[in-house]
Amino acid sequence: MADQEVVVMVGLQAAGKSTYCARVFGLSHEVVSKDRLRNNGRPQRRQMRLIQEALERGRSVVVDNTNASCQDRAPLIEIAHRFGARVRAVYLDTPVLLCDERNAQRPDKQRVPEVGLFSTRKIFVAPSVEEGFDEVEVIRS
Ligand SMILES: Nc1ncnc2c1ncn2[C@@H]1O[C@H](COP(=O)(O)OP(=O)(O)OP(=O)(O)O)[C@@H](O)[C@H]1O
Ligand SMILES: [Mg+2]
Repeated sequence: MADQEVVVMVGLQAAGKSTYCARVFGLSHEVVSKDRLRNNGRPQRRQMRLIQEALERGRSVVVDNTNASCQDRAPLIEIAHRFGARVRAVYLDTPVLLCDERNAQRPDKQRVPEVGLFSTRKIFVAPSVEEGFDEVEVIRS
């Protein structure tokens, strides 16, 4: 399919990725997220398989994780190109203190440990076309 694409969400915990995904891609793309694979022993492998299956069915996919480092994103770029799909990053550039605030306001079950947010920030690298994206969209809060 000529307009098939893989969208890679990028952003810290509580940046607003899942909210954005549901609003913008909910009807058009299959949402794949490691958050939904918590009870799977090999979530990375499972995630890649789900992406592959969706692409084989001709669907577009959005990958809703923090995808904070180039290492996280490289296999997503690779699989998109292998299937001749476009690959686009949607980077929610939400300031860490706002993420922290939104996270604190989440209901108990959805709140992530604060240390996780700050450790993700440490390894975080903004996505770029140099690493292989066809396009990078930056969304500022
Ligand atoms: N644009 C926005 N303005 C204000 N609040 C928002 C906005 N987007 C999301 N939120 C709120 O911020 C919180 C975090 O949003 P969301 O769950 O979408 O983040 P996330 O990036 O998917 O986080 P995680 O990586 O932990 O899954 C939620 O309570 C959500 O309602
Ligand atoms: Mg989320």
